This record gives sequence, C-alpha cells and structure tokens, in this order.
Amino acid sequence: MKKILVTGGAGFIGSAVVRQFIHETEDSVVNVDKLTYAGNLLSLTSVSDNPRYRFEHVDICDAAGMARIFREHQPDAVMHLAAESHVDRSITGPAEFIQTNIIGTYTLLEAARGYWEKLDAERKDIFRFHHISTDEVYGSLDDGGFFAEEDAYRPNSPYSASKASSDHLVRAWHHTYGLPVVTTNCSNNYGPYHFPEKLIPLIILNARDGKPLPVYGKGDNIRDWLYVDDHARALRLVLERGRVGETYNIGGWNEKTNLEVVHAVCAILDELYPQGAPHDRLITFVPDRPGHDWRYAIDAGKIERELGWRPEETFESGLRKTVEWYLANGEWVNSVTSGEYQNWITQNYQARGNK
Ligand code: NAD
Ligand code: TYD
Repeated sequence: MKKILVTGGAGFIGSAVVRQFIHETEDSVVNVDKLTYAGNLLSLTSVSDNPRYRFEHVDICDAAGMARIFREHQPDAVMHLAAESHVDRSITGPAEFIQTNIIGTYTLLEAARGYWEKLDAERKDIFRFHHISTDEVYGSLDDGGFFAEEDAYRPNSPYSASKASSDHLVRAWHHTYGLPVVTTNCSNNYGPYHFPEKLIPLIILNARDGKPLPVYGKGDNIRDWLYVDDHARALRLVLERGRVGETYNIGGWNEKTNLEVVHAVCAILDELYPQGAPHDRLITFVPDRPGHDWRYAIDAGKIERELGWRPEETFESGLRKTVEWYLANGEWVNSVTSGEYQNWITQNYQARGNK
C-alpha cells in the first residue's frame, strides 16, 4: 500500500487517476490542487469521504506549502498532472502557462528533491516522480509517421512550449540530482469530467443545446484520441513498472480528423437525443487557430512491448460512453460552466469574430 501525491487531481485526467486509485487499489492519495477554472471537486464526490483520500488546496508554485505537504504526508510517489492545459487559452494569455507549467514544475521538483534526499535508503529507492506530459511537445506531423520517444522536441504553441520546458526540467533533475523520475507523453484524451472548452465535450453540449458547432479551419486537422480511463491505467502501470529515467509515449492508435469526430458525436446524439436531429446541421466553420498543429499521432509500441499496456476502449465505445455521461450529468456541467469560464468564452469568441 503506497501513498501517492497527485497534483491536479481535481482536473479531467487527475480526477480519473484519483478515482481509479481509490476505487481499484488499496493505495492512498493526497490531491494537491489550486482549483482553477478547470478544477472541480464535484469530480471527486465518489472518493471524498474515503479515509484513503485527502485534499490539499495549494498552488504548486507555493514552495513553503509544497514543502509542508511533503513533510506532513510523507508520500511514496508523486504524479504531477497540475497544469494549464488548453491551447487556445495559451494563445490569448500565456502568462499562467509559464507560471504553473514551468515555475510550478520547478517548485514541485525542488520540494520533491528536498524531501527525497532525506529519506532512508529503502524509501529513497522506491520513490518515484512521475511527470505527466503531452505529445504536443514533439510539434506537428505531416501525413506520415508517428511521434516516438527519441524524437526531437519542436513545440509550437505557448502551451506545448511550457510543457516541453517542464519535461526538460524533470529530465535535468534526474540527471543532475538523481531524482528517480519517469515521464509520459500522451495524445488527446476524451471522456467524462472533461472541461467543455475542449473539442469533444464542447461539441456534445453545444449540439445538445442547439448551438453552433465551431470547427476550426476546414476541420481536417488530425488528433489521436484516447479514452481517459485507459490513460489513467497506463499512468498507474508506468508508475509501478516503468524504468527510472525513461519516457513512455501513450496513445490509442485512433487518428481522426476533427470533422470525423464532430460527425461521430452528432450521429450518437441523433440516436440518444433525437430532439434537434440531425445535429450535424449545426456544424459551423470558424477562423482557424493561429499556428494550428496539423497532425498528432503516437507510436505507443514501447509501453505496449515493455509494460503490456493496451487501451480497453475503442473510439466508438469510448465516445458513446462519453456522450451518455454528458447527457446524464447536467449538474456537473452547470457547475463548471458558470462564472469565469463563461466570461472567457465570450471574450474568446468575440476575438475570433464568432457569435
Ligand atoms: P485540466 O486542465 O483538466 O486540469 C488541470 C488541473 O490542475 C485542475 O484541477 C487545476 O485546478 C489544477 N491546477 C492548475 N494550476 C495549478 C497550480 N498552479 N497548482 C495546483 N493545481 C493547479 O487538465 P487535464 O486535461 O486533466 O491534464 C492533466 C495533465 O495531463 C496536464 O499536465 C496536461 O498537460 C497533460 N495532458 C493532457 C492531455 C489532454 O488531452 N487533456 C493529453 C496529454 C497530456
Ligand atoms: P482541443 O480539444 O483544444 O485539443 P488540442 O488543441 O490540445 O489538440 O482541440 C482538438 C482539435 O479540435 C484541435 O485540432 C482544434 C480543434 N477544435 C475545433 O475545431 N473547434 C473547437 O471549438 C475546439 C475547442 C477545438
């Protein structure tokens, strides 16, 4: 039984990781989260009363706060997911991305190192710092090829540049100080509890509400989609069995154009929510994202060969589960789409010239 310090555990992927640990293992979790617009404790109601779960409302940039958390909770491992995560926000306001993704990761690494160096030899040996990152650090692909672990970093957006910086810091803390790290770089996730600024939940909710479905450019950019619980399982496996100092790419071999994704969501909604069908009549082409990466696609061969990981969901089964979840969870949706998010989305859409 281990104690895992999860940062960003109130977010989309972090909450899936926390729920899996509490529901499917005997391990304990300390969730450190600042609760930005993207963090919501309603995503954790199924674990909040469990004695193996603790919440710390702390910013990872707060060095004293992080040192206290390590001292008090004495974790066996860190899974670092806290981040600013939305590319469009990074274009209109990069400052928070530099702060949390770079300064925050640096602050967390220093707190972890100070704690780890004082552990006894046995605990020092089993300690892990697992850094969760994105395939976007590798840049953009043409029509052929896949991102592999040894590829050069070529980040294009403020988001991916800030994540690339954090990956480099983690690598340096391993090589310089010996901190036992593992890093994972994953493709686009989708599933329940996803903040509805990202493509799939945005399309589901707009279609449900009869609103335009904004598709950037011609909708032919390609992303490689992975169901969030499959990602969470991969992360737990890498934490447990991944080799120290190594990077593992995680992806579902599920390449789709954005337009294919939008049509797939609409087809499921036509069946499950026939009011307003056909929903694809709402598709609206809008001006493209500046610097829009053309294609992401992961070669997941290393994690498959070394650790035996395979995704359990197909894109079709995962998308159906996701649409069903959003239709059934209006309360969660209302809670996360109030307040600041509404203001941001209004400004963003005005900036794009959309209604
Ligand atoms: P998210 O935006 O849904 O959640 C981020 C969480 O971090 C939120 O709970 C937020 O409150 C918290 N947070 C933000 N700043 C913080 C700070 N300074 N201190 C403490 N907590 C803070 O993000 P997500 O989609 O769950 O992504 C989690 C991680 O996985 C990120 O590091 C992201 O880069 C990476 N990732 C995401 C995807 C994806 O498709 N969503 C794909 C690959 C990798
Ligand atoms: P997004 O979910 O923001 O993830 P990322 O930019 O990290 O890949 O976007 C996924 C794709 O969908 C991306 O190519 C941009 C596109 N997109 C739209 O066409 N319309 C939208 O409203 C959004 C949010 C994204």
